[in-house]
Amino acid sequence: PGLPSILKKSILKVGVPKEVVEFLFGWVEGRGGYPKIPEAKGSISAIRSEAFFIPLYELYLTYGGIFRLTFGPKSFLIVSDPSIAKHILRDNSKAYSKGILAEILDFVMGKGLIPADGEIWRVRRRVIVPALHQKYVTAMIGLFGQATDRLCKKLDTAASDGEDVEMESLFSRLTLDVIGKAVFNYDFDSLTNDTGIVEAVYTVLREAEDRSVSPIPVWEIPIWKDISPRQRKVASALKLINDVLNDLISICKKMVDEEEFQFHEEYMNEKDPSILHFLLASGDDVTSKQLRDDLMTMLIAGHETSAAVLTWTFYLLSKEPRVMSKLQEEVDSVIGDRFPTIEDMKKLKYATRVINESLRLYPQPPVLIRRSLEDDVLGEYPIKSGEDIFISVWNLHRGPKQWDDADKFEPERWALDGPNPNETNQNFRYLPFGGGPRKCVGDLFATYETVVALAMLVRRFNFQIADGAPPVEMTTGATIHTTQGLNMTVTRRTKPIVVPSLQASPTLEVEPSVSP
Ligand code: HEM
Repeated sequence: PGLPSILKKSILKVGVPKEVVEFLFGWVEGRGGYPKIPEAKGSISAIRSEAFFIPLYELYLTYGGIFRLTFGPKSFLIVSDPSIAKHILRDNSKAYSKGILAEILDFVMGKGLIPADGEIWRVRRRVIVPALHQKYVTAMIGLFGQATDRLCKKLDTAASDGEDVEMESLFSRLTLDVIGKAVFNYDFDSLTNDTGIVEAVYTVLREAEDRSVSPIPVWEIPIWKDISPRQRKVASALKLINDVLNDLISICKKMVDEEEFQFHEEYMNEKDPSILHFLLASGDDVTSKQLRDDLMTMLIAGHETSAAVLTWTFYLLSKEPRVMSKLQEEVDSVIGDRFPTIEDMKKLKYATRVINESLRLYPQPPVLIRRSLEDDVLGEYPIKSGEDIFISVWNLHRGPKQWDDADKFEPERWALDGPNPNETNQNFRYLPFGGGPRKCVGDLFATYETVVALAMLVRRFNFQIADGAPPVEMTTGATIHTTQGLNMTVTRRTKPIVVPSLQASPTLEVEPSVSP
């Protein structure tokens, strides 16, 4: 905090009434003590528009790395400057909470790790982070392979039948199946099953996304909850999910009670490596709402994000055949027709760069939300406690000051043998998983998950935007969605191989690759 802020706090401490101090400092600041944050007047319709981070990008080009967007009595600070983002997320993170986000997500995540603040967050973060240890993430690679293989079978049928496929919903199902097994050892089998619990999960997700872009919180009106058919549907979906969670928790608890184990740092039950199993074995309270809130949080956090990454990666690849060929070449030589292993993760370098670059162009979520808990100084501007802040990761990732050819999909911008790009080595111009103490706990999990899916899919198939498909445009909930799906024509890859090998895997349709 700057000198005026410290001074102000001291004067308040000695008992001078707040109004007087505010008046005095307002007068001093208004007279050139500090510059005022540039202000853009907005209309609700701009924020309500399909992808609200697009008008925010235009405003950023006009007003700069921090500006205030005002709608009538309400205002938000929009941050697109790496050093201010670093200050809020890392250096002075204690002075910020999740603000509106916690309010919007309360109905589904309660005090789960994403919305939680203060002491609850601190305690839960310490309990949950150890569950995603190296051995766990390694075990998950097998699961990613199996789940992707199921998707391949589905695509294979579509390829045989000559039917186009809508990849966005398929990716959403793939990552739902993965996260269900990974978090609580439950097989949604959503690639074949559309009703019951799967439908309930989607009802809740859509509601969370609608609430995040709705300017008026109608769901807070007491009788609305009881009479609105939609809110009743949400309530019954939540109940169904909760019942299933309760069953899973008690099944898991039984397993834990029956096993002879010594809990240790990299504890993992081979039959059930799930995060839930780890948490119960580590002594988490089975009856607590907190445990349910955290499980729901991870279910949602790890589902739509990964699905969106895959969707936009395949969209980008369809526009850049050069990148696709280079990627397929790498995948052919590294994994051939095997399921990927942990060793392959180091070797699939270009595939990893494709995902890094896709996350730059389509960050999920495109904005991070915070609220100031005390007065602070952002860049050269003082701000007050209680400000709602949007950090536009979209703007950080595409700012013309930060990047050459910012809008170009160019995995080569990340050196193959360099470090994996992250917020630290990119000094907060690139933060696909956030930064500071609230950084994503699933970053490695998600990177491997998307690399495995990408590698296995492009190994077996070619993907093209379907003839006559509607244009692929963006809309947003929590992550960036397409407006009308990602409709693709999928064809099996046939490779110009001269001598067919007898060792070809019988389950795969592609010809065996020739080692370079
Ligand atoms: C937090 C992105 C996958 C669990 C975050 C944040 C980002 C993010 C940007 C920071 C949010 C903020 O600061 O407001 C992503 C992306 C993913 C992904 C792009 C996929 C490609 C996952 C997975 C899991 C997960 C697979 C769980 C296994 C979490 C949790 C938090 C979080 C629990 C909150 C951490 C805290 O506040 O302490 N994620 N995530 N995420 N993510 Fe992820």
